[in-house]
Amino acid sequence: MQSQNAFENLCSAAGDTSPAANERREFLLACSSTLLASVALSPLVASAASQARQIKRYSNAILSDSLGDPLRASTLKPLTNYIFHYPFASTPCLLIDMNRDVGGVGKRKSIVAFSAICSHKLAYPAKEVSFIRFQAAASAKSQAEQIHCCADHSVYDPSAGAKVIAGPATAPLAAIALEYDAKSDALRALGTAGAEQFDPFFAKYEFKLSMEYGARAKDRVQQRAAVQELTQFCRNVAQC
Ligand code: FES
Repeated sequence: MQSQNAFENLCSAAGDTSPAANERREFLLACSSTLLASVALSPLVASAASQARQIKRYSNAILSDSLGDPLRASTLKPLTNYIFHYPFASTPCLLIDMNRDVGGVGKRKSIVAFSAICSHKLAYPAKEVSFIRFQAAASAKSQAEQIHCCADHSVYDPSAGAKVIAGPATAPLAAIALEYDAKSDALRALGTAGAEQFDPFFAKYEFKLSMEYGARAKDRVQQRAAVQELTQFCRNVAQC
């Protein structure tokens, strides 16, 4: 991967439309929310700096495959649930290639990521079951291409910053800020944007997380975050 300081470079270049500044934007920074996704779209540089500041920085973690090698974004299957844990060892995120430009990252700006902790009552993908997941096809209770939490049927739109479009949830899922390196086709997580649920998540599931992760539950993810399909991580993925 190139510069460790791509994010800072982009922020400092955000108000600069010179050719040199454009070159520094080779690392496209985007966030899963449409608000922050405009950071990746250089015509909106005027507001990019203020938007970028809304990202809460955690570690810069390369998304990796099952072998620990950098995941190539172009190998993601479209409209498929992928999971990785970030920014803490026990906090799951959904990674989705929406198969169309939704203001995300990747060659087609189609890749987005969100915290997979439901903002309603904190359902999340655990190894035994996941009630929250992206659904490619419509169901009786929601339309296609939505993130649907089957626990109480909160529905989020991943093409619009995971805003709530149905159900009891009142807040969007927290977005994961991603950086894309076009040369290597690699992805890196940088931080979060929007309302995090980490503190109530750790409080609610303290015992369960300690059983599953031991003392590592609150460890910050450092250099790598391993990506796998949700169906490989969870024994049962709820359908609704
Ligand atoms: S916990 Fe997800 S809808 Fe209630």
